[in-house]
Amino acid sequence: MLRTDVRIPPEPTMTQVTRAARLQYVCSGCGVTALRWQGRCDGCGAWNTLGEGVAVSSAARRPHAALAAVAQPLNRVGDGSGQRTPTGIAELDRVLGGGVVAGSLILLGGDPGIGKSTLALQLAARVGTAGRPALYCAGEESAVQVAMRAERLGCRLPSVAVLAETDLDAVAQAIEMARPPLAVVDSVQTLSAPDAAGAPGSPAHVREGVARLLTVAKQTGVPIVLVGHVTKEGAIAGPRTLEHMVDVVLYLEGERHGEHRLLRGVKNRFGSTGELGLFTMEGGGLRQLDAPGRAFLDENSLSVPGNVLTVTCEGTRPLVVEIQALVAPTSFGLPRRTSSGFDLGRLHLILAVLERRAGIPLGQADVFLNVVGGVRLADPAVDLGVAMALAGAARDRVVPRDTVVLGEVGLGGEVRRASRLDARLGEAAALGQVAAVVPDGGRAPAGAGLRVHRVSSVSAALAVLQSG
Ligand SMILES: Nc1ncnc2c1ncn2[C@@H]1O[C@H](COP(=O)(O)OP(=O)(O)O)[C@@H](O)[C@H]1O
Ligand SMILES: [Mg+2]
Repeated sequence: MLRTDVRIPPEPTMTQVTRAARLQYVCSGCGVTALRWQGRCDGCGAWNTLGEGVAVSSAARRPHAALAAVAQPLNRVGDGSGQRTPTGIAELDRVLGGGVVAGSLILLGGDPGIGKSTLALQLAARVGTAGRPALYCAGEESAVQVAMRAERLGCRLPSVAVLAETDLDAVAQAIEMARPPLAVVDSVQTLSAPDAAGAPGSPAHVREGVARLLTVAKQTGVPIVLVGHVTKEGAIAGPRTLEHMVDVVLYLEGERHGEHRLLRGVKNRFGSTGELGLFTMEGGGLRQLDAPGRAFLDENSLSVPGNVLTVTCEGTRPLVVEIQALVAPTSFGLPRRTSSGFDLGRLHLILAVLERRAGIPLGQADVFLNVVGGVRLADPAVDLGVAMALAGAARDRVVPRDTVVLGEVGLGGEVRRASRLDARLGEAAALGQVAAVVPDGGRAPAGAGLRVHRVSSVSAALAVLQSG
């Protein structure tokens, strides 16, 4: 991408100024720079137009001209800490890495109806002020609809200005002119790019829209939140290329008809990724869940075979979650395997391990797996919990509800170590669990008062749970 702004470090030393000037020759005709003097300009082909200079002035004259950037020594570059604005929504700040960074492009993805517009509007109302309102560009709804939602959320305030617009040029200009503290573009699929072929929502429109807004964000320093629908394949707007173009990618997950919503940071150029923010969806909007505690356990769930508690670690946060498995004989044709909240390929792998390494026949069984609360488990340490749920369901054996099971399962049936074991066990103990089945090897965990069984294989875990 072409750089159009060139920052000179504050109070440059004489050598820097002269070096910067000596390094650059700027064409007086088109503003293109060259590192060495030459008779003919590479940009416009004119003769004798190159002169010594600092590129900033020509950038102002020709905003799209190519420029040579001036590099800064690392120790002279600011740490950017002054550019981060906390949103005041702690769960959102946790995922963002402390707040919204000036000039960042944030992609907020999720299934339709999950609450993306709600979260974006609540965020805008928090960041904007009456004197400097946040800009909410609504492409899917009219201004009246946005105002009605704001009324319901209790944020129909002067701190948000709404613009019902889908034209990319109009949206970009509105941001450039208003320079709001935050802009929301809802959604990226409704943006209509002037030069792109096809209909809005097609990859060409979406990509051009994101590229343009990226430039706007970087030039104006306005953080822009792009709302994007997730397609059936799970990628925002089809092309995954979008994720590479933006600074931060957040996904809002959960069961649409359930009350919990999880905000997951899958990419963050300004903080750690994998962090999870927890919310509940209520009539008045998304409310943060300060202590998740038992949110991902089904209190009505019975001590039936197939229900097992495990501890996942999402980012830095341990969460006790319940896994439910049902195994039933296949009555017709091929066995069915369905999974909600857990990767289907990984389920197949664990089924094969159970069959081949623990002698549990599952080849002619339908298998259904569900993770309570709509959380999608990506942490491999929940494997053993899944394996024990499946084995319990297949053999009709109950795993006690006061026991958590965790560890990664390998192809040989071995149980591998889990990260942050002490934090996981601490969380389990805080929720009243009394026992844990954990991977063997490495340092013994502190245990947090739990009865800890250390196992090195799936069969060993089965033996522990069946004897207890
Ligand atoms: N009038 C309403 N009263 C209560 N909740 C509502 C109302 N309208 C929408 N919701 C909630 O908001 C959700 C839709 O949120 P929204 O932010 O529009 O989703 P998205 O932008 O992701 O499609 C609905 O699933 C519902 O839970
Ligand atoms: Mg919406």
